[in-house]
Amino acid sequence: MNYETLQVERRDRIAFVAINRPDKLNALNAQARSELKDLFLALQNDDAVDVVILTGAGEKAFVAGTDIKELTELDEQKGMLFSEDGQAVFNLIENLGKPVIAAVNGYALGGGAELALACHMRIASENAKFGQPEVNLGIIPGYGGTQRLARLVGKGRAMELILTGESIDAPEALRIGLVNKVVAVPELMKAAESMARKIIDKGQVAVRLALMAITATHELSLESGQAFEAELFGRCCASEDFKEGTRAFLEKRKPAFKNK
Ligand code: COA
Repeated sequence: MNYETLQVERRDRIAFVAINRPDKLNALNAQARSELKDLFLALQNDDAVDVVILTGAGEKAFVAGTDIKELTELDEQKGMLFSEDGQAVFNLIENLGKPVIAAVNGYALGGGAELALACHMRIASENAKFGQPEVNLGIIPGYGGTQRLARLVGKGRAMELILTGESIDAPEALRIGLVNKVVAVPELMKAAESMARKIIDKGQVAVRLALMAITATHELSLESGQAFEAELFGRCCASEDFKEGTRAFLEKRKPAFKNK
């Protein structure tokens, strides 16, 4: 399938996806949101893909937000639907069932920061800038940002970012735990791929169940979260990967996982 607003390449079990509207700093318009939904539904069922890396086309931006031009038509009812529609796309990414790494290569503002937050891990290049500038436009983050940002960096820091609308640079994003690592601009895709390869090297049964367990902690109390963890741990123990992984360790060899 060919997309107008996305570049997609599948290589050695990784899907490389770039939001592709560089002349608009990859601002997410309705078409980009719809294509993202379509693509991620396809990736969910694509047995040839274990990890997705999401970035922005061009040198300046990951995604500079939702397309502000489209916001001007919204009233109360349309605004709520607009928010729910974007939330559904980003929830699909978070609940993909396989890891998604954001390679943040410049501005990640508004919906762009929220898109990075919906990914499971974030690697930033040194020139990356993060912010939730929605208050400058008289709105609030509506694609999950008010919920995911506080869960990731804590309430106080989320309050500051969202209420002041100020952007932070990559070292500050690293300091507050918004990103996993910061690398030089030319190293970004290599660093994301290297993280993806480490994950692909493991048994995918365990990887996917771990992803599910960690993602669920957002919604569950500690007690229910631990009950869920125990259930998933049991499921790992029923897998061939588990038998192979433990046997290989004891036989002092590299495991040959079959992802079953
Ligand atoms: N929606 C629509 N268009 C956007 C956009 C957005 N969120 N962000 C950038 N663009 C467009 C600009 O309108 C411009 O288009 P044009 O060439 O047709 O005029 C193009 O992308 C380049 O942006 P420009 O503002 O000229 O680049 P800059 O380097 O001077 O500034 C930013 C970069 C990111 C600081 C600035 O574009 C900006 O503030 N963007 C909006 C960020 C935002 O508020 N996002 C949250 C939206 S909810």
